[in-house]
Amino acid sequence: MKRVLSGMRPTGKLHLGHWVGALSSWVSLQDKYECFFMVADWHALMSEYKNPSSLKDVALDNVADWISWGISSKKSTIFIQSDIKEHLDLFMVFSILTPLGWLYRCPTFKEQIKQLEAKEINTHAFLGYPVLQSSDILLYKADYVPVGEDQLPHLELAREIVRRFHFIYNKEIFPEPKPLLTEVPRLLGLDSRKMSKSYDNCIYLSDEDETIKNKVSSMITDPQRIRKTDPGRPEVCNVYSYYKAFLPQKDKEVSSWCRKAQKGCTECKGILAEEFCDLIRPRRENKKELLGDKKKLLSILEEGKEKAHREASKTWKEVKKLVGF
Ligand code: TRP
Ligand code: SF4
Repeated sequence: MKRVLSGMRPTGKLHLGHWVGALSSWVSLQDKYECFFMVADWHALMSEYKNPSSLKDVALDNVADWISWGISSKKSTIFIQSDIKEHLDLFMVFSILTPLGWLYRCPTFKEQIKQLEAKEINTHAFLGYPVLQSSDILLYKADYVPVGEDQLPHLELAREIVRRFHFIYNKEIFPEPKPLLTEVPRLLGLDSRKMSKSYDNCIYLSDEDETIKNKVSSMITDPQRIRKTDPGRPEVCNVYSYYKAFLPQKDKEVSSWCRKAQKGCTECKGILAEEFCDLIRPRRENKKELLGDKKKLLSILEEGKEKAHREASKTWKEVKKLVGF
């Protein structure tokens, strides 16, 4: 079986954007590939270092979501990046052979520095963000990496690093990792701004029914639809884009009741809210159980750490020899 590795930074609670954007595709990859799913806590620390106190809790909370939404510890290896020291070893080797120009050129670096000015990430480590990501991938010799479009430059850099490593040490030990592009529906937040935890405009994977209903009912619909008898325009309505992303099978039906003014927006939102409640409820309860007795969660991570370490140490031994240690 070909191998897949992906990671998520533990920067906060997971929401429906994470589900459609990443987690749902991780779940379906598990049957086709040997999967490694990693909490990228070093990567999170690079931008959250001034506020690091909750990293561990967020990591556990995120992993509890992964598991209750369908990541299986039997099928996949679930682990925390900072538990495996070899990530940093390989990061250093790759840092040594990566020309600075490749990193300054990286579009994500320039953008993030501008966007996250308050986080003061104009640092040595942050410049190496994609180098660490390359070592995450290559330490496990992953063939494929499921990512969103924004991460493609990082994958390209990983492939360049592989080629340079092979050229310098004159031996091919790594695959050139390929992206598995996740088709992400463009989803805005509940208030139609960019979905982001700093705007608190998302439905979290652990929201209670009441919260979900309130959030959905607060969504802005077609502003030109004032009376219930006015025909609506689904294409300008954020509620409709949620239907399309989460319930594509209802797409036609919703668009028709909207255009023909057969249902009002309140009812339309009520139906969506019920669907979200049904989706989230069983998983939310499952997560509560997992977090109630941390032993099981910790033992899953312990097992993941062992499996990950077995692979990581094999690769590191090869690398160590090639670089001359
Ligand atoms: N940079 C990725 C993101 O922000 C997270 C990540 C870290 C990752 N290491 C990885 C993704 C390795 C894929 C493979 O989404
Ligand atoms: Fe949006 Fe539904 Fe209202 Fe149409 S009926 S405008 S899709 S909320």
